[in-house]
Amino acid sequence: MHCPEQYVKENGLQRKDAKDISSTYIRKMVWKSNEIVLDVGCGPGDVTSDILYPLLKNKINQLVGVDKSIEMVEYAKKTYGCSKIDFKVLDIENANDCSFYSHRFNKIFSFFCFHWVHNKVDSLRSMHLMLKNGGEILFNFLLINPLIELYKSMDAEWQKYIKDLKQISHDLYSQDEMREIFIKAGFRIINLETNVKKYTFPDFSSLLNAVKAVDTMYNILPQHLHDRYSIHVKDKICETQGVEICPITGITIKPYFTITVHAIKD
Ligand SMILES: C[S@@+](CC[C@H](N)C(=O)[O-])C[C@H]1O[C@@H](n2cnc3c(N)ncnc32)[C@H](O)[C@@H]1O
Repeated sequence: MHCPEQYVKENGLQRKDAKDISSTYIRKMVWKSNEIVLDVGCGPGDVTSDILYPLLKNKINQLVGVDKSIEMVEYAKKTYGCSKIDFKVLDIENANDCSFYSHRFNKIFSFFCFHWVHNKVDSLRSMHLMLKNGGEILFNFLLINPLIELYKSMDAEWQKYIKDLKQISHDLYSQDEMREIFIKAGFRIINLETNVKKYTFPDFSSLLNAVKAVDTMYNILPQHLHDRYSIHVKDKICETQGVEICPITGITIKPYFTITVHAIKD
């Protein structure tokens, strides 16, 4: 997930979800004037700039997007950076770097990022510290990461590479465990909901391209194995991901399982 150009072409599902969730929850939050807002795991910055910013522009002084990927942040800066929107490199798992932003933000948003984070409690503690008192967070991420399901189903020859995938959190949490994680980090939960949603791709190859844009296996696999790996992914997605493909139009429907957490630092 280091190629911003590829990701922005294939993130229709993430954009739709971010739009639906932000428009529902932003009006439920308490707003003062001139707030400073953080978007954690902003990726290439299109969600920050095209979706969050239009909804927030009358309420905020500054919107800051952070991501641990230098490539993503460089792309976001050059494409969307302006006086009110800034992008910075920050790994939310690095408590030391996060402490630089202590008590800086009124709100923290994070879309489709938290399922990639390994040390969830400590990262949330850092974000708790980065918030001002009374600050709110809105997180939307995958409760079940379909890539983990995909990797588990793969044939033995690919398992040795999967073991090397340090970028990805292999832990699975229930809704109640996830609730406990946010509480343990110091937040009071205002609302927590899980949903099974469906996204419609125009055809099956569009779904494959969307999966490829976030599949970190391509970063570690030798180039000569990429095509064979793609064919294996295609077979396994059909077998394991509950995908519906219309035999006439090719329209492809993919279910996915999200969790949304709106919480406050008292
Ligand atoms: C699927 S992208 C989501 C991008 C954007 N928020 C969206 O909704 O399209 C997930 C992003 O989270 C970032 N990420 C993962 N772990 C992170 C961490 N520990 N700290 C900061 N960013 C992280 C990745 O680099 C990636 O750009």
